[in-house]
Amino acid sequence: MKSIVILISGGGSNMAALVRAAQQEDWASRYGAAIAAVISNRADAAGLRWAQEQGIATQTIAHKDFPDRAQFDSALAQAVASCAGGAEPPLVLLAGFMRILTPGFVQTHAGRLINVHPSLLPAFTGLHTHERAIAAGCRFAGATVHRVTEVLDEGAILEQSVVPVLPDDDAQSLAARVLATEHLIYPRAVRRLLKAGLN
Ligand code: GAR
Repeated sequence: MKSIVILISGGGSNMAALVRAAQQEDWASRYGAAIAAVISNRADAAGLRWAQEQGIATQTIAHKDFPDRAQFDSALAQAVASCAGGAEPPLVLLAGFMRILTPGFVQTHAGRLINVHPSLLPAFTGLHTHERAIAAGCRFAGATVHRVTEVLDEGAILEQSVVPVLPDDDAQSLAARVLATEHLIYPRAVRRLLKAGLN
């Protein structure tokens, strides 16, 4: 069974969308893939409780407990490997995971590390994407599912969604409109990868 490990930091609505898709579309029998665990870098991430209620193994690796990024990432990589349990390296899905990963972590999971970002990349990498899209006068915004490389929010684009920016939008209303589309494109991107054998 191919393991999928999801990394979160907060609400976990993208994680929930992935879990629901895996359940409803029976990724286990269709693709031999199962969501093995959800790991958070924050113990208070709301998504952890939801995952537990679904019977999914959860773990917290708190970045605050480590003196530097490299040691946190090394503990995270160990947790990912042990959650996956099998011989094959897992697919690692960043779902609102708000930590920048070290090149070492990225290399360890090369080709199997995916992220969802709330902008139409390559526009608006980094934080505050919705504020910046509104400030720039964008008529359209959206989200991107992409492979993770050592460069922040770069890497091959797997899926994108587009939504209009409405005249009365603030960052919150735009974020909600974009987030709803993330819940569609993230499972779609993962489904495609599983179908293609992760290549
Ligand atoms: C999502 O909008 C996701 O794209 C964004 O955080 C939100 C998490 O929501 N991720 C980033 O900004 C990563 N740089 P969720 O916890 O409800 O899935």
